Amino acid sequence: MKKVVLTHRLYEAGMQLLDGKVTVSITNTGKPSEMLSELVDADGLIIRIGSIDRSAMLAAKKLKVIGRPGVGVDDVDVAAATELGIPVVIAPGANTRSVAEHALALIFAAAKDILSSDKQTRSGNFNVRNSYKAFELLGKRLGLVGYGNIGRELAKLCSAIGMKVVVYDPFVKQETIEQLGYQYENELDELLRNADVISLHVPLTDKTKNLIGEREFGLMQPHTVLVNCARGGVIDEQALSVALKANKIHSAALDVLAVEPVSPEDPLALLENTIITPHMAGLTKEAAAGVSTMAVEGVLAVLRGEQWPYVANKEVYEHPIWRK
Ligand SMILES: NC(=O)c1ccc[n+]([C@@H]2O[C@H](COP(=O)([O-])OP(=O)(O)OC[C@H]3O[C@@H](n4cnc5c(N)ncnc54)[C@H](O)[C@@H]3O)[C@@H](O)[C@H]2O)c1
Repeated sequence: MKKVVLTHRLYEAGMQLLDGKVTVSITNTGKPSEMLSELVDADGLIIRIGSIDRSAMLAAKKLKVIGRPGVGVDDVDVAAATELGIPVVIAPGANTRSVAEHALALIFAAAKDILSSDKQTRSGNFNVRNSYKAFELLGKRLGLVGYGNIGRELAKLCSAIGMKVVVYDPFVKQETIEQLGYQYENELDELLRNADVISLHVPLTDKTKNLIGEREFGLMQPHTVLVNCARGGVIDEQALSVALKANKIHSAALDVLAVEPVSPEDPLALLENTIITPHMAGLTKEAAAGVSTMAVEGVLAVLRGEQWPYVANKEVYEHPIWRK
């Protein structure tokens, strides 16, 4: 029987699919150096939390597939996997709705001052209702940075509550955006200047690392809400905490941070005008079932020798291993 290593136990639907088809080993760590002893004779690896680099792939001589129950592959050396003929299976679309709903929930929480009002009310300060901090979203401009699966879903949700949607995504055609009644923005700077709410939905790459930094915060308005359900590294967090402290923007609602889990001493965790959730946007029951099922189906298909279509490196199928 082939062996599949899991960094952590998958949601039950995924575990059931593996049952009886492969030998499963759970490392409970996603650090390559700590997984090595299990990886040396593994045919597959599914990374829920963790990473894999080139040297671990080279050491795992039998490794034929890497699975990610999600879409982010910033913790996988995809170039190395491609060179070695290893497909990197992803689960596109399976958590789209959940992440978009979470972003919307963060937008509402920030606009309605939910977290601080809850805290104040519990501590006896009913008068907090007279602070008039909440604002309506009707007619406000949502600036979407990244219009992929999640960005598209959030655009629909926000448009349904009467927000104006503005999109910056250089890889999407202007007419596609305009046909839907949204505004297309060629320049990120323009979107940052004019949006009331900015929501980030780009992958973390060399090009998007620290995409939003000191200069960009300088373009935003004091009432701007910044939402990040993408990856922590997309924002320069040092610059963000400076901007929040100086009230250069209204608030930041973050599901993701550059270093997770967030430390209680992290400057962002100490500020009043932040909302922080534990990278849970894609962890609803429905999404967890969907991504784990999709990742396992893909991993099993590759182990059967099939060219599974949902991979982060489609060019891998040009590799001599696959041409044979
Ligand atoms: N918080 C969570 O739990 C969670 C869950 C799922 C995904 N994510 C993150 O959300 C990201 C987006 O997910 P998705 O499913 O929408 O991915 P996707 O691949 O469908 O969409 C990404 C979009 O970003 C655009 N893009 C790339 N570089 C850009 C740039 N420099 N400027 C503007 N746009 C750019 C692409 O053209 C694409 O349209 C993922 O890469 C992942 O990191 C987070």
